[in-house]
Amino acid sequence: MNEAPTTPTVIRSPEEMTTWSDQQRAAGRRIAFVPTLGGLHDGHRSLLEEGHRRGDRLVLSVFLNPTQFGPKEDLAKYPQELEADLAIAGRAGTDVCFAPTRAQMYPPGFQTEVQVKEISQGLCDDLRPGHFAGVATVVTKLFTIVHPHLAVFGEKNFQQLALVHRLSTDPNLGVEIIPMPTVREPDGLAMSTRNRYLSPTDRERALSLSRALQAAREAAVAGERDVAALVAKARAILDPAVDKLDYVEIRNADTLAPMERLDVPGVILVAAFVGTTRLIDNMRL
Ligand code: PAF
Repeated sequence: MNEAPTTPTVIRSPEEMTTWSDQQRAAGRRIAFVPTLGGLHDGHRSLLEEGHRRGDRLVLSVFLNPTQFGPKEDLAKYPQELEADLAIAGRAGTDVCFAPTRAQMYPPGFQTEVQVKEISQGLCDDLRPGHFAGVATVVTKLFTIVHPHLAVFGEKNFQQLALVHRLSTDPNLGVEIIPMPTVREPDGLAMSTRNRYLSPTDRERALSLSRALQAAREAAVAGERDVAALVAKARAILDPAVDKLDYVEIRNADTLAPMERLDVPGVILVAAFVGTTRLIDNMRL
């Protein structure tokens, strides 16, 4: 981005956010939206830059949504650093940062939950029960409050991306979902806010995720079609390196349905603990 950095306007109140969006819409401007939990890195920057390219106005949300974290997960230690986030967002051309409080998003008496049924099942949902209901509920609220024309999501969270596609289509929310490829460090590690929890030795072991996916991809490119054989290639790299493998699976890249042979485009997905840090990654096959 060569443009001069802007300082995004911070809006805290949902009502004020919707009023701003309605005014932009009335003036004929297309609103692009990038929702985040905060802790912005270059992966988020690529989402913001794409939003900036596609929309007339760009809104970022920074909201550490408690309902998508399990009781034993990292909610309490997740980075909350709005000033640093605003600096990154400003360099990517963000106009507004919507940063509500928990009480504003979930006022007393709040009891509605949004469920996207099949796509939420399996993979991350098996080990993080309730996670996707938390995501679906907050994304529905954010889309309703920000009322964007389009929203940009990373492919790194592949299951979330599939869920958000359905969420936008099924209840006619009318938000165009723009997927963006995973941004990687030069050595292949997928960018994640959680990478900063890794010690130097754990970071080295974390490279096993992208290496395992890459090994499966190379075998697929070489002609291997048997999903069990491809998964075995990945496990040979993951098993000795990670502390706990939550899953490594190949699914249909369009529907996320399980598959036995790679006769249609697939995606290999992995979730694993390195030390106490849970990382996810995926690659299309
Ligand atoms: O991917 C994320 O950062 C979050 O799950 C999201 C979409 C902002 C919902 O809280």
